[in-house]
Amino acid sequence: MFVAIGISNIGVYTPKKILTNDDLSKVVDTNDEWISTRTGIKQRHIAAENESTEDMAVSAVNNLLEKDSSALDGVDFIICSTVTHKIPFPSVAALVQKHFGIAGIPAFDMGPACGGFVYTLAAADSFVKSGLAKKVLCICAEKLSDIVNWQDRNTCVLFGDAAAAFIVEENPKTCKLVHNVIGGDGALADLLYVDKDSRKIVMDGTGVFKQAVRIMEEQVNKVCSEAGVQVDDIDLLVPHQANARIITAVADRLNFPQEKSYINVQKYGNTSGVTIPLALADAMADGSIKDGYLVACPALGGGFTWGAALLQF
Ligand code: ACO
Repeated sequence: MFVAIGISNIGVYTPKKILTNDDLSKVVDTNDEWISTRTGIKQRHIAAENESTEDMAVSAVNNLLEKDSSALDGVDFIICSTVTHKIPFPSVAALVQKHFGIAGIPAFDMGPACGGFVYTLAAADSFVKSGLAKKVLCICAEKLSDIVNWQDRNTCVLFGDAAAAFIVEENPKTCKLVHNVIGGDGALADLLYVDKDSRKIVMDGTGVFKQAVRIMEEQVNKVCSEAGVQVDDIDLLVPHQANARIITAVADRLNFPQEKSYINVQKYGNTSGVTIPLALADAMADGSIKDGYLVACPALGGGFTWGAALLQF
């Protein structure tokens, strides 16, 4: 018998410190007007110097527990998406496992960058479907401020720090995963990468912009056609939040009403794989997602990685 798999609750964490566009204009040659009109971003949260990616992951799991105190009961797999962990091992997933004392189960990290949400969701869904796991704790956690070049105005205005945690299981409490698709192409790596010497983000902004719009449109069409639904059936588009102009352009290309695209990049900047769960949590909290809504979440990230998830609330 077919049993629905999906998401039960989403915990989120954003660091206390807020860096506004005006604050940034004191660090590099930029201004609020340029950043706002080019990206839609007004501010981003920045972790404290001694606050690590795993600290933020733990905080997101704590928020998950505040929303559902039984969230970790029966968890039998932990996956964390991150590209900002300082050490090769132990993984962030293993450190979270240690912190919460969830011994004896597999835990590992993956690094699909801004594809983090769709990749962790796809992996967790496959593990549950195959019987390898019953209840997967998925985490997306990024301290991007560590890998941003704070002298490069082309990139430093774009990113922020955040973490999210959610459970993937059968009979989910929050939303069903109707269908998901993932993909990627390493041949596009030169458009966006971390330099191996400086360990800082290097980006061809215009190149990334063009690919992001084209591929996210393609992924929405693909996930809909494979699921047998029309793009018009989507009640809300919650895309990866890299830049408001990318989101607007994706909706335009899909011929999709702009008011049905959710944007919260103004508050957090681009937090890589965290943006979609953070946007879903905000959209649920502010009433933008209602019961019965079909929500599409396309993403694209460095690598390149990409994908889309179709969620039924
Ligand atoms: N403040 C002021 N001026 C700036 C800044 C800044 N922060 N950054 C660049 N400029 C200048 C440039 O130097 C350039 O000046 P020049 O003409 O004298 O050389 C001018 O502004 C125009 O630059 P463009 O690159 O043409 O600006 P554009 O309108 O393309 O916007 C942007 C740049 C915002 C980076 C855009 O290309 C973009 O959003 N790309 C997508 C990148 C992205 O979202 N990456 C995130 C990671 S990937 C992902 O998550 C999908």
